[in-house]
Amino acid sequence: MYLPDEIEKILITEEEIKAKVAEMGRILTKEYADKNPLFICVLKGSVVFFADLMREVKCPMEINFLKASSYGSSTVSAGTVSLDVGAEINFEGRHVVIVEDILDTARTLYSLKNELLTRNPASLRIVTLLDKPSRRVVKGFTADYTGIAIEDHFVVGYGLDYSEQFRNLPYVGILKPSVYS
Ligand code: PRP
Repeated sequence: MYLPDEIEKILITEEEIKAKVAEMGRILTKEYADKNPLFICVLKGSVVFFADLMREVKCPMEINFLKASSYGSSTVSAGTVSLDVGAEINFEGRHVVIVEDILDTARTLYSLKNELLTRNPASLRIVTLLDKPSRRVVKGFTADYTGIAIEDHFVVGYGLDYSEQFRNLPYVGILKPSVYS
């Protein structure tokens, strides 16, 4: 198995992810069976989860992509969010499902949700594979569907990066603190 030196340990295995994604897909399939939902991949982190999840949604659906990035350090006051919401995507009257890899401070999803609500979707829900509730800055913000809640570790893999690296790991691993401190 490809286990880079920088990884302290595997937090969520490939098998655990696969089972969770299948379970989430079953729930979403039931929920959206007759709604032709529009699933939105929030680049870049969610791309791996998105590609797996969409294949577990067994009903008519469409996809599109947006870019969101949070800049700023880990200090709670610094973050700002850059959104590229794609003027060409029509959200009006659609059942929109935003798909994220991780919900952390919730700044990104808070901004994105507010922006998309101005585009008059029929409904708007958020799916996230991982949630770090202890890191929340936007108090009370939650996803509608959460895969796995985790402690406040620096996690990489399955789309998540550190300095653009490690997105290709098929599992979620904890980064050694020596790498980023
Ligand atoms: C990550 C992740 C979420 C966001 C969550 O994206 O994919 O979009 O941070 O953090 P928040 O809840 O504190 O806003 P990032 O900005 O690192 O960009 P990337 O997806 O391109 O890696």
